[in-house]
Amino acid sequence: MSALTSNIDTLIESYDVKCDVILTNHFTAIYDSLLADVKNYAADTNKYGDVLSQHLLRTSLMGSEFLKTLGFSDRAAENFKHANQLHDLGKIHECYDPNIWKTKHSPTPQEIAEKRKHPRLGVEILNRKLLESPAELQEHPHIRLIQSLQQFHHECVDASGYEGLNGDKMGNVIKTICIIDAYDGDMIHRPHQAAQRTPEEELNRLKNANKYRGKLDGDTLDRFTKFILG
Ligand SMILES: [Fe+2]
Ligand SMILES: [Fe+2]
Repeated sequence: MSALTSNIDTLIESYDVKCDVILTNHFTAIYDSLLADVKNYAADTNKYGDVLSQHLLRTSLMGSEFLKTLGFSDRAAENFKHANQLHDLGKIHECYDPNIWKTKHSPTPQEIAEKRKHPRLGVEILNRKLLESPAELQEHPHIRLIQSLQQFHHECVDASGYEGLNGDKMGNVIKTICIIDAYDGDMIHRPHQAAQRTPEEELNRLKNANKYRGKLDGDTLDRFTKFILG
């Protein structure tokens, strides 16, 4: 696990997804088919794939712009934008009934436990797709970035997240996706809410609500607040 998280901030600067020959030759078709699988997920039932695709796109665009404000290069920002669109791939794993992602009731403890498996299930789906691929793709830094974003986007600096990483092991890229994923998820309007939260309300909630107190990196959250509010 530590091998996936160590040096992600360095690794993301080490290649360029837009012109990397290994990725172009061996990964483009796999990536496109995975994005299509997400988009088409539960198309004939609850259409959760539509909701999920939009979340993946929004967090990717937001995260890519935000990372530049932290000093990451344009190239790293592009690498993030591409990789992050697979961070919730595990939600479409065949072990799930799609209705688990769109329940009208509050999730039961058993449903919560099942949902918490999606980070690792995302890595499983990706690795299965790569089984026949050359080693130079399987070991490519971009694949390691995708696997890290999949596995560690629900972490907390106090080590109470899904995989139990603490803040010292997270790095700026992982701290960023954990904040942006929470922000975007909370901004989606739910049927039981009278109105959608405003950005100010949600940022205040990330800073002060019991649910998030001590969980998100304070410095990154302050910078993100400035980024959103200007
Ligand atoms: Fe997730
Ligand atoms: Fe997410």
